Amino acid sequence: MDKIILVVDTGVDDAMAMILLKRHGIIPEFIVAQSGNSVLENTYRNTVGIASMLELGCPVYPGSYTPIIKPHYYEDYHGKNGLACYKFPDKPLNNTHNGIVKMYEALKHGKYRIICTSPLTSLGILFRLNRDIQRNIIDLTIMGGAFGKTPWGKGNMGDAEFNIFYDPEAAKIVFGLDIKITVIPLDLTMNPELAIKQAISVSNNNSVSAFVKKTTEFMLQKHGNYELHDPIAAYAAINPDAFEFLNGKISIDDNGVTSMEQKEESLHRIAVQINPDLYQSEIVKMIYQ
Ligand code: BDR
Ligand code: CA
Repeated sequence: MDKIILVVDTGVDDAMAMILLKRHGIIPEFIVAQSGNSVLENTYRNTVGIASMLELGCPVYPGSYTPIIKPHYYEDYHGKNGLACYKFPDKPLNNTHNGIVKMYEALKHGKYRIICTSPLTSLGILFRLNRDIQRNIIDLTIMGGAFGKTPWGKGNMGDAEFNIFYDPEAAKIVFGLDIKITVIPLDLTMNPELAIKQAISVSNNNSVSAFVKKTTEFMLQKHGNYELHDPIAAYAAINPDAFEFLNGKISIDDNGVTSMEQKEESLHRIAVQINPDLYQSEIVKMIYQ
């Protein structure tokens, strides 16, 4: 199996993506936690907490603190600490290696697939440091963007999607590379048929199920609907055949608004549909088991 690096800003649905990957038998080589859904101190602690709850046994390294140019933007969408107020023990940031350096060292020596369910800052900085290592990326799967290709492909931050809005400069660097990029945008993940609309009972009685139940209830109470953006993106890296894609060249404007000029031959593709049965059996059921 190809080696995987996971980049997250955990985040309730990033946590669900980690749970989904584990339940599909996928353990990343290491995880990079960067700022996004909350400040780095929170997203790092949240990611370490989830990785240890899942007994992943892989290292978690802190990535970027703030976007490349903009200040950190904080919305409280996922609760005060980014994780539906679910609090894991504090983890100091200063006794571990930096995730961007770790990605550089890994890609210098080996080939990796990368899944990114966060803003693209850590990856943007990585390729600013060294563009050559892109040759060792097998492919990159990103949750991000809103392309107007379906009725729900509208932004959730004005016309932009949060991950790209948070750091458009980083996104421009990443989409300027010559690598295969699969994008899971709001055009798919905001499809109302995919949203969790009511609490789902979990049959297992363990800490992961308790976490899934509690955080889902939190999101439903706070927002009415709960969209599984990041697990859908993680699943696209596992089983792309479950999705329908449009191919084309992706561009990012200064406000983080994404667009795609459709062309059959392209390194970029965006998902616009997922097989509904596989969505239920391979994503929802796997998370809420
Ligand atoms: C994306 O933004 C974050 O809030 C979620 O974790 C997801 O990655 C959706 O726009
Ligand atoms: Ca995320």
